[in-house]
Amino acid sequence: MTSEHDRTATRARARVALVTCADLPELEPDDQLVLAPLAARGVVAEPVVWDAPDVDWGDYDLAVLRSPWDYVPRRDEFVAWARRVPALANPALTVRWNTDKRYLRELAAAGVPTVPTDWLGAADEWTPPETGEYVVKPAVSAGSQDTGRYDLADADQRALAVAHVARLQAADRLVMVQPYLDAVDTYGETALLFLAGPDGLEFSHAIRKGAMLTGPDAATNSLYQPEKITPRTPSDAEHAAARQVLAALPEDMEPLLYARVDLIPGADGTPILVELELTEPSLFLGHADGAADRLADAIVRRLP
Ligand SMILES: Nc1ncnc2c1ncn2[C@@H]1O[C@H](COP(=O)(O)OP(=O)(O)O)[C@@H](O)[C@H]1O
Ligand SMILES: [Mg+2]
Repeated sequence: MTSEHDRTATRARARVALVTCADLPELEPDDQLVLAPLAARGVVAEPVVWDAPDVDWGDYDLAVLRSPWDYVPRRDEFVAWARRVPALANPALTVRWNTDKRYLRELAAAGVPTVPTDWLGAADEWTPPETGEYVVKPAVSAGSQDTGRYDLADADQRALAVAHVARLQAADRLVMVQPYLDAVDTYGETALLFLAGPDGLEFSHAIRKGAMLTGPDAATNSLYQPEKITPRTPSDAEHAAARQVLAALPEDMEPLLYARVDLIPGADGTPILVELELTEPSLFLGHADGAADRLADAIVRRLP
């Protein structure tokens, strides 16, 4: 019988690509935390830019999506690229499904609490509600980009909200309009991180993310907005909600290397799904003991 350890020791050293974008060629500092644990497990891991020319993705035993965040304006190209990578985590089918927030409609239909959303295509006219705070964001997005918060009772903000919707529509982007969940201002957002164990996804750790939206979309060109992250111990209700989300996934999503479930309490305190990140979630490895080791173990388990 060959133990897992003997197998890694005797086979040629496995090669893993940690997939990033040209603006982050050495990965985010948080993702770099997995490099030493992978090296300790005999794995050669290196950052690789997803759209760099002349990369032979067949050279890698596994390519792990980490920070390819510049795909947003060219999602079709990114999805097509994902199909060409022989061993991708998470897999190309998942990438296609999860890079467009219309997946939230499927999860809602399966009973997952989600934010009530108006979906506006290019030709749809938007009549803003008279009052209330609303979020305008594109269905394909990452890093809180092109996302704004508007108090519709205020005439100026109302005009900015209308202009924001029109700007996204003009760029042929599907628009989402949602009530602002104001519990995020006090309680914050909870992200539950799951990593693959021997029998599928296992809860690893969680963080609290402070509110991201202070007002109208400022149309910055950065890859992502700065985040205020602290550790969080999720409530039983949050654990249950995250489990419900993962149980509601389409069957062809498996096997997943990681998943992140982002929740904000609704008006009655029920955890509401804001985003399910299966594509390129920040994993916040530095915010929990052992998280980088658990990710390294999950990667090694996935190797041939
Ligand atoms: N309906 C909402 N209510 C309150 N805050 C929201 C809402 N939608 C988005 N946000 C805020 O905007 C951030 C980014 O939105 P999200 O839907 O997670 O898109 P992405 O992270 O893909 O850009 C969230 O982390 C949250 O702070
Ligand atoms: Mg998010």
